[in-house]
Amino acid sequence: MKTVLITGAGTGLGRELALLYSKDNYHAILAGRTLSKLEETKRLIEQENGKAHIYKLDIQNPKQDIDNLLLSHEVDVLINNAGTGYFGAFEQLKEEEINEMIDTNVKGTIFVTQALIKHLFSRPSGKIINIISTAGLRGKVNESVYAASKFAVRGFTESLQKEYEGTTISIIGAYMGGMDTPFWDATDHIKDKSRLKPPSDIARIIYENQHKNEDITL
Ligand SMILES: NC(=O)c1ccc[n+]([C@@H]2O[C@H](COP(=O)([O-])OP(=O)(O)OC[C@H]3O[C@@H](n4cnc5c(N)ncnc54)[C@H](OP(=O)(O)O)[C@@H]3O)[C@@H](O)[C@H]2O)c1
Repeated sequence: MKTVLITGAGTGLGRELALLYSKDNYHAILAGRTLSKLEETKRLIEQENGKAHIYKLDIQNPKQDIDNLLLSHEVDVLINNAGTGYFGAFEQLKEEEINEMIDTNVKGTIFVTQALIKHLFSRPSGKIINIISTAGLRGKVNESVYAASKFAVRGFTESLQKEYEGTTISIIGAYMGGMDTPFWDATDHIKDKSRLKPPSDIARIIYENQHKNEDITL
């Protein structure tokens, strides 16, 4: 049985990806900061006879916790999904919001990947899927720092793809538009949420295309 580690697996896209992988006989390690959300994902997986394990993890400071996790688990697929966003006029963004986006989306993705990279090399084939956004492809009004953070993750992803080309590790960037998830709960940036796609649809496309080892734009 292969194992997938998904950050931010308690809600939204992370939860849907966890459900799909576990249906395909992966052991899903569900990582995030809020145990109650992770427990609900685990319950949904076990309801379908899947196997899941909860792991409390803040990706802003993940090294020690991932070292501990690897004492008792192997990981074949890492999905860097956890992320956060603050939207609105650039001049009104607060310093703590800017730090939160950079520390989570950029540094969190980098630190989690670095904590797992040697282990992924020890597996027959390791895979990293970075959940980015169309905000990592083009800038958008009122998304300045969020887009900056996602451009950074794109640069990180493309660089690793070149650095590890020809090795046993494959790295995929996923670039999707708006999804109807709790991501938008604290903002009125999206006026008409009915136009957002269900995260289950996006998860399925990512899941079905991941074996091609190419970036996924949807
Ligand atoms: N929704 C969209 O329209 C959209 C579009 C394109 C890309 N994306 C990207 O898709 C990914 C998933 O977002 P989503 O839409 O599914 O939103 P979501 O439901 O808010 O999920 C984000 C998850 O990240 C976790 N998280 C946040 N900070 C964390 C930290 N420091 N450490 C560990 N976990 C943390 C949150 O859980 P805890 O707070 O419990 O830790 C939450 O479960 C994000 O990277 C987002 O940028 C979203």
